Amino acid sequence: MRSRSLPRLGTIRAAFVLLAAIPFAAGLSCSAGAPPQAPAAAPQGETLTSGQFTMVLPLGLQADAAYIPDANPLTQAKIELGRKLYFDTRLSKDGTVSCATCHDPDKGFSDNRPVSLGINGQSGARNAPTVMNRLFSKEQFWDGRAADLEAQALGPVQNPIEMGHTLEGMVSNLQAIQPYDAEFASTFGSPGINADRVAQAIASYERTVVTGNAPYDRYQAGDKKAMSESAVRGMAIFNDAERGNCVTCHAGFNFTDESYHNLGVGMDKPIPDLGRYVVTKQEFDKGGFKTPTLRNITLTPPYMHDGSDATLQAVVDFYDRGGIKNPWQSKEIHPLNLSDQDKADLVAFLEALTGEVRGTERPTLPK
Ligand code: HEC
Ligand code: HEC
Repeated sequence: MRSRSLPRLGTIRAAFVLLAAIPFAAGLSCSAGAPPQAPAAAPQGETLTSGQFTMVLPLGLQADAAYIPDANPLTQAKIELGRKLYFDTRLSKDGTVSCATCHDPDKGFSDNRPVSLGINGQSGARNAPTVMNRLFSKEQFWDGRAADLEAQALGPVQNPIEMGHTLEGMVSNLQAIQPYDAEFASTFGSPGINADRVAQAIASYERTVVTGNAPYDRYQAGDKKAMSESAVRGMAIFNDAERGNCVTCHAGFNFTDESYHNLGVGMDKPIPDLGRYVVTKQEFDKGGFKTPTLRNITLTPPYMHDGSDATLQAVVDFYDRGGIKNPWQSKEIHPLNLSDQDKADLVAFLEALTGEVRGTERPTLPK
């Protein structure tokens, strides 16, 4: 089951290539006096537009695949307010946990733990996914239970083992911090701190946390030296339905079909996490989890929804074995019979997906 955000073709793409080319052309005309042998400009990323706001995306990301709800267009003010709220531990009940505690820019916007630790050191049941490139996904969480980032943002605040608060409690915490009053008013055009505004601001900031311009993207843009020979071989295995078959699910520029699949991860536990099934109650969704992006995957071990694979080598071995058999396993998962060299090449390719990260700047929090 593929979804809407697969890479587009044809005319739409051409429009964005044109857009992206404008700053490049302008740059050329300004530098008319430059020596003729000046090196060609590096390939440009596409330009994302939302209302009055524009941002040039890192190379390799597709602007028209972005999901931004009409009710919450990006503005610089919302992004900056959201950045503060994201890093502010005062959103949690005891003032110790912020979004960045579990989605830390220094840890690939995750926490490098198998499962997360929340307030009072309580641990949850799932691995914290990265917040990078959420711009390109509508549904959020491993099981897709949040309709969008706005709906997602208030979940952890109220989760008893994450931030352990109530929405009313969070709002009154923020109301007690005087500079936030003025910032909410100027950002939203009228006074008032409320949960919806908090969610809109955090979601806006998260949409600027993007990664691209990896060796893979430079290779695709024509720099054939950007990836090692091993990574190039790994890419062929990744894309080949008879060999790795990875691209069937990790499809498109963000390496995900935004759909749910059962690989068998955790299905051998006494009480398995049934994932997507809990949301849809559809039999075929048992043990299904959302295909994660593979961009910057080197930064966010351990892997899988339960953190059960410590390394990328372990992930590739898991696929090579054909996952864990269970009645609901995807038909796309079966033993691969990869050689040691094939496995090393696949890992080299996964490593070539690590690139530039935007949105890591930490804010100064109001007192
Ligand atoms: C205690 C650790 C913890 C805290 C604090 C936390 N998260 Fe998470 N976050 C997680 C875990 C674990 C998941 C996966 C849960 C699931 O899928 O059921 C998750 C999932 C997400 C996702 C979904 C990503 C995807 O690929 O679907 C987003 C977005 C997110 N968190 C943003 C936030 C924001 C914004 C905050 C602050 C308001 C926050 N998180 C606070 C641990 C945390
Ligand atoms: C049938 C769809 C499907 C196929 C085929 C597939 N994947 Fe995945 N991949 C997923 C899903 C779904 C998850 C999350 C599973 C879970 O946690 O239960 C995942 C998780 C991963 C992860 C861990 C990501 C993270 O953030 O924890 C990596 C790495 C990965 N896949 C690489 C690959 C490679 C390499 C191949 C080919 C050998 C491949 N995948 C084939 C769907 C697929």
